[in-house]
Parts: sequence; structure tokens; C-alpha cells
Amino acid sequence: MMEADMRRAIAHKRDGGELDAETYDAIVRASLSGEIDDAQTAALLMACVLRGMTFAETHALTAAFVASGETLVTDDPRTVDKHSSGGVADTASLVVVPLVAACGIPFAKLSGRALGHTGGTLDKLEAIPGVRTDLAPERFLAIVRDAGCAIAAQGPRLVPADKRFYALRDRTATVPARGLIAASIVSKKIAGGARAIVYDVKVGRGAFVPDAESGRALAETLVRLTRAFGRRALALVTDMDEPLGRSIGTGLEAIEARDFLSGVRRDARLATVCRALGGALLRVAGYDGEPDAALTDALESGRAFATFEAMLDAQGARAGALAALAPAEAPAIVRAERDGYVRAIDTVALGERARDLVAASGAGAGIVFGARIGDRVARGDALAETFGGDAASVAAVARAVSIGDDAAPPRPLVYGEIEAVSDSAARASDTGEASRSMLESR
Ligand code: URA
Repeated sequence: MMEADMRRAIAHKRDGGELDAETYDAIVRASLSGEIDDAQTAALLMACVLRGMTFAETHALTAAFVASGETLVTDDPRTVDKHSSGGVADTASLVVVPLVAACGIPFAKLSGRALGHTGGTLDKLEAIPGVRTDLAPERFLAIVRDAGCAIAAQGPRLVPADKRFYALRDRTATVPARGLIAASIVSKKIAGGARAIVYDVKVGRGAFVPDAESGRALAETLVRLTRAFGRRALALVTDMDEPLGRSIGTGLEAIEARDFLSGVRRDARLATVCRALGGALLRVAGYDGEPDAALTDALESGRAFATFEAMLDAQGARAGALAALAPAEAPAIVRAERDGYVRAIDTVALGERARDLVAASGAGAGIVFGARIGDRVARGDALAETFGGDAASVAAVARAVSIGDDAAPPRPLVYGEIEAVSDSAARASDTGEASRSMLESR
């Protein structure tokens, strides 16, 4: 594509027009090869943000992204993957991957790193000494075959165009457009080879999606797009107004997953979401049996924990490393400053603080959070523990907890499951409406 063609495409999109699949394909190829420069690509991205993208355009961009690299081929048609739109204390992947694999469903999980205040599954895994996530595609698929599951980084061979576009979006404030987000997420899942995918769209103060309504719309786009590529899909919309599990920080979250799978300690909120995700994954994989009973059996028999150990072993964990993981010594206790009810938790502040603690003091540092929204507390009660920090961290965590006189109204933990796309949502995304409304709600 020549510079003049790209200028015409940008102007067409700027004026509210729709670009066809051939144009998106040419743009992605030209951007990757350097034929068109970042200024033009960024201008087009901004036009997509401001004008919205139709479903056909989103599909075209996704297809162009997938075509920019290799696509893995998994040999078992039941192979699954999951994606979380990002949260705090979201340890679900470390629990659900071996749990579902222990039910006999192959799990080929491609993961990302921390983004902003949210944690990254790769960082949590790498907190276990020896574990590698930079697996070549052939090695990744071999571990899925042998251990039942693997968790790896996407690597340079899959969807290189997304890497380039995502970095540009990050620099040019063009991330929050539903079409761009969906193309970015779904292209990576399609290229990863899974035949069935479950999306966990997080909504609330600690999420990138502010409310359940925009979460539902994004979930519908993800499901519709994934199905358009011939893969099965489901999406859950789940709460991220407060941390999901108890632990925030790479090593602490690995410890929480270990203890959950081995039965030492299971947080109720984390358990509810893991069960909902595990059930959805088994159903979308076509599991032949009752999902809830299968998950219980995999967990209680110890098979899920053994599968976790086998996966870590195959990915290079040093002998005894998982068992030896421990929080940093001498935690400090964060106490309630008054009597009342926990009304709100600044989940973003907690995620950011935990990231800083890990950066300063290593993988054993972070926050273990005890309080939940709705809890009744008395002045001086323990709300949380900080590991590897100082008095400033304790004060920051205390500030993140709002205590008031009345209990906050209860909220759902799982807002719903999206299997199909409603007619009105399909019409809205066909005209680009849905994409714009997400931007407006930010
Ligand atoms: N996660 C992604 O992979 N891509 C986006 O655009 C947003 C979140």
C-alpha cells in the first residue's frame, strides 16, 4: 500500500466510512513491513476509536492480524484456552488451567504480562524458580500433549502485527475501542490453536471495562468474533470492584494458587469464579459428563494439583521450588481506622502498590488482603498484611479501603454468561455503535 492510498483510507474512516477486508489486510501488511509509517497507522487507529468499527471491519482486522504470523494447530478438537480482560488478585488461570486439564481436557494457554495495575499470568508463573514461559510453539504443544496443559508467552511468531499495533495504541491513547480490543484479543486466541475459548470479562473499579453493560457488549463481540473464525466460545462477565483472590503480587499469587489446588486454603470468591470458568470451559469443550462433579473430583482427588506440578516440571521448575515458595518475612498489619462497614476498595491502588512492592523487594512481596466489601469491622481490626514494604505501604493500603456507616448494597460476583449474541447487540456492532459506546463510558 502506498502513502497516498493510506491517506485516502484514513480520510474515508475519519468521515465515517467503512473500510473493506482487503484494505485492512493491506494496511496491516504495510504497517509491519514499514511501507507506511507509524504516523499514518496511528491516525487510522484514532479514526477507528472516534468513529467505531462495524463487525465486518473488526473481523477483517482480526483476520489480517492472524495472517501476520503463524497459527498453531492442536490435534485434539477439545483443546481449550481462556482469556481474562485483566484484574487484581486474579489468580484464576493458575487454578483453572490444571483443574480443567485434570478433567481430561487439553489446555493450551497463551498468556500476557502485567498491564498497568493488573497482574500478568506469565509474571506469576516465573515467580516459581526455573519456570520458563518463552516456549517455542513445538515445545508448547508437546507439553500440552504430555502434561495436559501449558502456559506460555505468545512469542514473536504468533500475531506480530498485534504486538506492533498494541504498542502504538498504548502510545497514542487509542486502546479503548471495542473493535480494536476484540481484534487484538481474539487474533491471539485464534493463532494459539485452541478450538474452544472462554473469555472472562472483568468489570468494575479494578477493571479496564467500567460497568456490566459495557462488559456484556465486549463479551458479545468476543464470542461472535471467535465463532466467525470457526471456534467455539463463551464469555463470563465477572466483578472486579475488589480483588478476586486474597493475594496481590507475583509470588504471593503463585502461593495462593498452590494452596488452593492442594487444599490448604481456598478463598470463596476465587473458588466461585474458578468453578464458573471451569464449568464453562468443560461445556465449551464438549465434555461428556457433569462439569461441576468433574471439577470437584479433580480438585478433591489431588489430580488438579498433580497436573499443576507436572506442567511446572515440564516448563522447567526447579525440584522443590513450588513447595519452597514463601512470602517475604516480617509482614506489617494494616488496621481499620474506624468502626463501620467496608464500603469500597481502591483496587487499582492495591494493584499498583503490590507491583511496586514486588519491583522493590522481589517475588515474595505484595499484599494479602483480608477485608471484603460488606464486612463489618471495628477500629484496629486487621484488614490486610503487606510483605516487603514499609510504613508508607501500610498507610497506602489503609487509604485504599473506605469504611462507612452503612453496608454497601450487595453486587453479583458473576454477572452472567454470554453464549449467543442478541439481535440488538449484533445490529449495534454492525453499525459501529457498540464500539463507540465503550469509549463514551470511559
Ligand atoms: N488485551 C489485549 O490483548 N488487547 C487489548 O487491546 C486489550 C487488552
